[in-house]
Amino acid sequence: MKPKTSGELRAMWLQFFSSKGHAVIPSASVIPENDPTVLFTTAGMHPLVPYLLGSKHPAGTRLCDVQKCIRTGDIDEVGDASHLTFFEMLGNWSLGDYFKKEMIAWSWEFLTSPDYLGLDKDKLAFTVFEGEGDIPRDDEAAGYWMENGVKPENIYYLGRKHNWWGPAGQTGPCGPDTEMFIIKDQPPCGPDCSPACSCGRFLEIWNDVFMQYNKDAEGNYVPLAKKNVDTGMGLERTILTLNGAASVYETDAFTGILARISDLSGKHYGDDEATTKAFRIIADHLRTATFIMGDPRGVSPSNVDQGYVLRRLIRRAVRYGMRLGMPEGFTGEIAKVVIAQYAEVYPELRENEAFVLEQFSLEEARFERTLRQGEREFEKLAQRLGDSRVIDGVSAFHLYDTYGFPIEMTRELAQEKGLTVDEQGFAEHFAQHQKLSQAGAEQRFKGGLADHSAQTARLHTATHLLQAALRRVLGNEVAQKGSNITAERLRFDFKFGRKVTREELDQVEALVNEWIAADVPVVMTETTVEAAKAEGAIGLFESKYGERVRMYTMGPYSKEICGGPHASHTGELVSFKIQKEESSSAGVRRIKAVIGAKPED
Ligand code: ALA
Repeated sequence: MKPKTSGELRAMWLQFFSSKGHAVIPSASVIPENDPTVLFTTAGMHPLVPYLLGSKHPAGTRLCDVQKCIRTGDIDEVGDASHLTFFEMLGNWSLGDYFKKEMIAWSWEFLTSPDYLGLDKDKLAFTVFEGEGDIPRDDEAAGYWMENGVKPENIYYLGRKHNWWGPAGQTGPCGPDTEMFIIKDQPPCGPDCSPACSCGRFLEIWNDVFMQYNKDAEGNYVPLAKKNVDTGMGLERTILTLNGAASVYETDAFTGILARISDLSGKHYGDDEATTKAFRIIADHLRTATFIMGDPRGVSPSNVDQGYVLRRLIRRAVRYGMRLGMPEGFTGEIAKVVIAQYAEVYPELRENEAFVLEQFSLEEARFERTLRQGEREFEKLAQRLGDSRVIDGVSAFHLYDTYGFPIEMTRELAQEKGLTVDEQGFAEHFAQHQKLSQAGAEQRFKGGLADHSAQTARLHTATHLLQAALRRVLGNEVAQKGSNITAERLRFDFKFGRKVTREELDQVEALVNEWIAADVPVVMTETTVEAAKAEGAIGLFESKYGERVRMYTMGPYSKEICGGPHASHTGELVSFKIQKEESSSAGVRRIKAVIGAKPED
């Protein structure tokens, strides 16, 4: 019986490989434990790297599993029929045990036997490595396919781009592979139509990698003492094929999630192209976000590493949710469906459910605050426009950089009011800003700080927020007298006539922490001293600056003339704590404070 559901396919895979002497191992975390070169587990082999390099695996030399994987490289393709940011990979491994002959025979059996997938033999295509340098064309693999009955015309020889796999990060095991494709019922796109082209006629479902090399840090391919096999079959894509579905979203991996989006929005998947795309993006991104937070090594949204990817996934889903008119809190509602659907296979989701739901609700609220603030600014801007009816590039960019307001939102609000946005002007400012940030990073030495590590930059950003908070709580007489940053702490001296009370320090600390949580971008603009002052920027040592100065803006909270460097978002500071307040000299107070460790520190 052909498997029709994800559950049936998982069970069939594990049963098949068990019958060939493989031990079933559990899925590892989606956040890799031993590979700092990549943020997520991208393939079933990834957690097995030490064993592929020769360590002994406690379960033996033949393994199989179903692994949770995340690949965000193709995020812009999400919304089409088959790209997903989270997917399950069915995998099996030989650790120095069997090699090409056995693996190809088993692949053929699993694909075509009526006891397993029972796919039509004439609707399958295969690719093998065409060879490069010292590594010969893989006639051996092609020969085994033909021995099993594959017609030579269904075998394609391709280069490294297509038929070489790995490493999963920047270093590690890799080798030539042979890939298996379903030939769809659509005519060839031309005489050279092959699995290498993107016309969509060939859908890859399985990859057998013959891991014979280890790529080292210098980029050398060092032959491994023992040859391994590493295979991976995409669960969602295979289910799509077996059901003859139009896309992965029309399989059991997604039907429950889409139905819930429909309940909540009153819209229907398939209503029109834009609605369908919104459904798909929300479903994909929130499913992935649920798996990232529901992992045993789960993280929360932030501005670094996995947390950053997570934040972008959630915020993009929220934006598409708004287009569908989804109610507040919808992310958690979708997460509940994902958890219920997968809890049996991945019990960690249920164990971490409270954390997942809390984080969704916090991030939705944070993003909504950002958007609301941006909308208020938009209103003010719209009122100032007068007859011109065009939002110029500078203003659109200002909304984006100071308020974190996405350009899509500016565009939508403008449309509602019958205004237009100078998109080109925005794009120019955006590009210029990217260039400036880059230049800023390169020219940090000009800023006059002794140490330029990321830690220093974060403490420097914290110093700006501290000064701004002190001015709010104690008044504008607070003025910087000196600042000193070490790897551990910041020290800030400022003009103020008396001791600062504990309550005042608490208020200052709370404000800074609030601004860190608001996670606004730290934006550098080049301007003149006069213009910066006119915008309300504060700044020291004015006489040192020439005509052009750098001004750092942190949302509506802080604006200072300064040389940098800074963190890119206030959220990178994680948290802020005042350790000590004391007198420095007559009329000058001194505060020492620390910030939270970055997750990877
Ligand atoms: N590691 C191989 C892949 O991801 C099987 O395609």
